[in-house]
Amino acid sequence: MAVLFALFFFVSMALSARIRPYFTNFNGTEYFREEVLPAVSDVLSPSPTPSPSGSASGSRFPDTHATDFRIHDPNIILVGDTYYAYSVGPGILIHESSSMEGPWTQTGTVLNGNSVIQKGDNKSPWAPNTIQIGDTFYCYYSVSNSGCRDSAIGVATSSSPGPGGWTDHGMIIQSGTGEGSDIAPLNTSNTIDPNVFVDFDGTAYLVFGSFWSGLWEVELNDDFISVASFPHEVQDSDADDGKEGQSAAAATQPASLSASHLGAEPGKVWRSRKSNKNAKKVDKNGSPVCGDPTGGHPIEGGFLYYHAPYYYMWFSWGRCCEFKDPAMRDTGKEYRIRVGRSEDVKGPFVDKAGIDLVDGGGETVYGTNGDVFAPGGQGVLTDAFGDVLFYHYLNRSVSYDFSDARLGYNRLEYIDGWPVAVY
Ligand SMILES: *[C@@H]1O[C@H](CO)[C@@H](O)[C@H](O)[C@H]1NC(C)=O
Ligand SMILES: *[C@@H]1O[C@H](CO)[C@@H](O)[C@H](O)[C@H]1NC(C)=O
Ligand SMILES: *[C@@H]1O[C@H](CO)[C@@H](O)[C@H](O)[C@H]1NC(C)=O
Repeated sequence: MAVLFALFFFVSMALSARIRPYFTNFNGTEYFREEVLPAVSDVLSPSPTPSPSGSASGSRFPDTHATDFRIHDPNIILVGDTYYAYSVGPGILIHESSSMEGPWTQTGTVLNGNSVIQKGDNKSPWAPNTIQIGDTFYCYYSVSNSGCRDSAIGVATSSSPGPGGWTDHGMIIQSGTGEGSDIAPLNTSNTIDPNVFVDFDGTAYLVFGSFWSGLWEVELNDDFISVASFPHEVQDSDADDGKEGQSAAAATQPASLSASHLGAEPGKVWRSRKSNKNAKKVDKNGSPVCGDPTGGHPIEGGFLYYHAPYYYMWFSWGRCCEFKDPAMRDTGKEYRIRVGRSEDVKGPFVDKAGIDLVDGGGETVYGTNGDVFAPGGQGVLTDAFGDVLFYHYLNRSVSYDFSDARLGYNRLEYIDGWPVAVY
């Protein structure tokens, strides 16, 4: 497939430039740490000659904690003394370890077979997100096909985080095709990359989105497996099941889904592909569901986390994959981990310059450095020492192959309320 080199226009952001030296105490000992950081805009600008020096010295980012755990879009939770990682693979893979560095052992899967959702890659659901609410573990997952927004988010539950005992409840929301997919904002978004966050009042929010109109947040019902007003399985009003009145009412109910827009990439960061194997698939309005005709708007992998006194909206910006083609590597458009913050769970989330994430704002917390290339698909967890930022990355001394992505992680410090990756 021909690579389209666009004359990208990139709105370079006038973001803050340097972070001063600071104290860190993540391992219980306060010590001084010094970093010289280039301006964020230098990093965001396409760089024709990145230096794959193999060393992160002089980089604005600290080294990663490298692991040999092959994973994409890692989702890791700590339950007791055990770390559980959930990731894409047949039935959603579960790995366990007694530490972040590993060794990580696959202990089984969430689903015994395909997801009950009849859409996309339901054999190997993408980008799972598992959380514990009360005594129950909820594993949110997505089914889709690459480059298409014909997707859905589903959920499975279990009384334990490991394999066995999971019940698949199927779809929560969907986009592209199918019931409810014409409701805003599902008609302009891609329902993948689920992330569920439970606020202090017990309300659960589902964050989702990838490319197109970006990142969105909807409130879940108290069952944590459904969304208010989303018309599931609306029956024909002439169905002969004795529920005509009810069905007619449901069918005429104004379709609505109250959603907060959390982030977007308004820029056309790359051109749309001329063709896509599924290009003929269209939504109810006749718009293509595979390939965005307005170009690539690379924002995805939203992850909402709280660290007093702010809510942080983490996301991945840029191109995640396709780096086997050397021409795709040094464009300055590869994945990086960015964040915005808010005092409200529903946003607006802004960066240091006050730019709203829906206007393209976002602080870059971790990006390409040394061997580390295109880190993203991130999440955050808290252990006894504080917050840990985890993600996948490619080791550019080894391979640019999608399947060679590894788990990496860094401790987080908060400087003036802004997260900074430290080693
Ligand atoms: C904390 O980390 C620093 C830097 O890596 C190290 O010098 C120090 O020994 C560590 N302290 C403990 C208690 O692990
Ligand atoms: C990358 O791979 C090289 C060669 O195996 C290894 O020495 C280095 O530690 C790796 N770096 C990272 C960040 O994984
Ligand atoms: C999405 O749906 C809303 C109504 O729910 C409508 O106003 C809007 O025009 C639709 N957008 C597209 C792109 O179809």
